[in-house]
Amino acid sequence: MPTPPEKWWHSATGYQIYPRSFCDSNGDGVGDIPGIVSKLDHLADLGIGFVWLSPVYRSPMADNGYDISDYRDIAPEFGTLADFDRLVSEARARGIGIVMDLVVNHSSDQHPWFLAARRDAARPEHSYYIWRDARPDGSPPDDRQAIFGGPAWTWVPEVGKYYLHLFSPAQPDLNWANPALRAEIHAMMNWWFDRGIAGFRMDVIDLIGKDVDAGRHEMGPHLHPYLQEMHRETLAGRDVLTVGESWNVTIDTALDFCGRERGELDMVFQFAHVVEGWDPVHGKFRPRPFDLPAFKRVLFAWQQALAEDGWNSLFLSNHDLPRQVSKYGDDGQYRVRSAKALATAMHLMKGTPFVYQGEEIGMTNTAFERIDQFRDIETLQLYDEQMAQGVSPEAFIAGANANGRDNARTPMQWTDGPQAGFTDGTPWIEVNPNHAQINVAADRADPKGVFAHYQALIRLRRELPIIRHGGLRPIAGDHPQVMAYERELDGQRLLVVVNFSGEPADFDLPEADACAGRCLITNFGDRTEARGRLALEPWEAFAILDA
Ligand code: GLC
Ligand code: CA
Repeated sequence: MPTPPEKWWHSATGYQIYPRSFCDSNGDGVGDIPGIVSKLDHLADLGIGFVWLSPVYRSPMADNGYDISDYRDIAPEFGTLADFDRLVSEARARGIGIVMDLVVNHSSDQHPWFLAARRDAARPEHSYYIWRDARPDGSPPDDRQAIFGGPAWTWVPEVGKYYLHLFSPAQPDLNWANPALRAEIHAMMNWWFDRGIAGFRMDVIDLIGKDVDAGRHEMGPHLHPYLQEMHRETLAGRDVLTVGESWNVTIDTALDFCGRERGELDMVFQFAHVVEGWDPVHGKFRPRPFDLPAFKRVLFAWQQALAEDGWNSLFLSNHDLPRQVSKYGDDGQYRVRSAKALATAMHLMKGTPFVYQGEEIGMTNTAFERIDQFRDIETLQLYDEQMAQGVSPEAFIAGANANGRDNARTPMQWTDGPQAGFTDGTPWIEVNPNHAQINVAADRADPKGVFAHYQALIRLRRELPIIRHGGLRPIAGDHPQVMAYERELDGQRLLVVVNFSGEPADFDLPEADACAGRCLITNFGDRTEARGRLALEPWEAFAILDA
């Protein structure tokens, strides 16, 4: 298989920072950019190549920054443009690029564009948004529901029309059909590139090409033309990384984004392996029991679909998802070992791995008891809806603790001290009480800690072409307990075996997959040979590179 031209993000591992929850430098309880700068050495030690920074733009924070009121300024609670420039240069000095979040399906309802648009239909900004007349009975133009609850349309009496908001009313959808709006976005992207950023993560990007009247919001007919234009106007010729968030992309459509021919984006965040664990009707708040064969089927299908062209992103966690050690691993007895097992399984596949803040020390889900401890707009909306439907608060809170977005948003646990070392003040959301045991200082002091394991995986990717470019072949794909695969490059082989359970496992390795050589990584004891029946410890994970 031909090895593609090497890109810096083939060997780099990403690290997502949710600024509000990472490190607070001034005691107001909210993480900020100077706080991030103060922790860059932690990230450099981990070995990551770039940071994906969740939004730091000026914002009323209805959705914690995914509602932007000025695309060319920093939210005062996060700092200033000067702080941001310092972050870019201090990060660069450590070999770390800063990838911004591009949130352009919608703006904030407090953006000056929207304030003008809702005041006067004659203003040019009016057509930066999507307006429709009421139905004859005064009801919204269609029955579409917003992702954060309620109708997707809100009435504005001043202009006598409804505007579309696929998320909350505070997040009006931008009208990409308007070339002037598109030009504004392109200019804004170039403005950030000129400040030295290393790329963009593109929020819900498959929603920008919508045809509202045809009811096609996801993967709409104009999506790829708009992305191609964006590429021409902003990305072409720049050595940057782009990753598009898409809840609707499939293995059949992935190459439309990241195939060589199209080249719109470098990769996508796809969620098939995440949604696989949700109830088909009730969604994420009623998860299905974890099904390893289904999980593997999805991930391996993506590996195979993008084997020759395109590129995968590799992740289990982000700011919208539960903590991976709680969701897929064991956050009790085998917390450390299972955290390492999950990392091993993900990082040794082909693609660019993304580590979510705190994952590198095995941080866990929350255990809130009352609704007033939650902060997320999605959870709070859903709470109101479900209370109205007669769901008990206890049942709701159990679901939110297991699956809600606040799990990922409790403060980063730096120390066992007050507020986990996150702030000298009162944090905007409570710290997890388990910071007494689970914190950066304690984990990093342990040579067998989770951090050391991530460091090793991240280093191996930089060192070994087989991890970056080797082909991947699943082994015993239907095995209910073990995830195993082989990587291959130029006659060299790498065997990866992970017991995805807290029970011992007898795993019969097919003779063709036997491997002996160097143990690259393990979370239990060195294995230099794997042949025949393997007796695996609970959550044991290892990789052997053949001699
Ligand atoms: C994406 C973000 C999420 C946000 C939503 C609306 O899914 O990851 O946090 O709420 O888009 O911008
Ligand atoms: Ca602060």
